[in-house]
Amino acid sequence: MSLLSRIFHTAPVRKDFAFLHTDMHSHILPGLDDGASNMEEALGYCRALVSAGFQKAIFTPHIMMGVYPNQPQEIAQVAERLSDELRWANIALETSFAAEYMVDESLVERLQKNEPILEMQGGYVLIEMSYAAPSPYLESVVFQLQLQNKKPILAHPERYLYDHHTDHFERLKDMGCALQLNLLSLTDYYGPPVRKKALSLLKLGAYDFLGTDLHHLRHQEALQALQTHTKTMDRLVAYPWCNKWL
Ligand SMILES: [Fe+2]
Repeated sequence: MSLLSRIFHTAPVRKDFAFLHTDMHSHILPGLDDGASNMEEALGYCRALVSAGFQKAIFTPHIMMGVYPNQPQEIAQVAERLSDELRWANIALETSFAAEYMVDESLVERLQKNEPILEMQGGYVLIEMSYAAPSPYLESVVFQLQLQNKKPILAHPERYLYDHHTDHFERLKDMGCALQLNLLSLTDYYGPPVRKKALSLLKLGAYDFLGTDLHHLRHQEALQALQTHTKTMDRLVAYPWCNKWL
């Protein structure tokens, strides 16, 4: 690089997510779902979270009937192994774990039988719906969770494109269900309709929590690219996220 191009070459400013403190949605526990497949990969994602400014990560593997039938005890064991590996690798990331529960018959049954549910600090429970069709159980699950003194958080409402009505989400909020935005929804990673919906829910002030939903290297790279979008990052910094509660 010539002297002149060195003088005029400026790398894009990279902002970080330190303002959030905690990433409350990720698929980093190895071998449990469609996220990290081994420990080395998991450590790489944790390193990336630290370099992006996060101080804490809550690992939330899928629990989904017939696809990812993860049990709380198994998740706890893998989380402990990763936490040990982080210490040995000298990666300064505080960790915790919960799950991302698909709202399906198995969750309804789990709640009816009063079986243990993995929750975050403060009793928050992360739930999701299919991207193909709404769940007929959503409102009853939100109600049941609250009967058990838990606080539901619906993951990435902007990705449920079959639901075009923001008033449905307002109704869920009125029922006591918090909403979580995926960071990459603010880019075109999931497509322009998701981005548009995320921006309109953000403008309404409908979201409570912000998460990476990090599954793989493409997500990690897209998050790094987002950090150079100054306008989006400034907008996120100015929003009253509740991540520090978790
Ligand atoms: Fe997820």
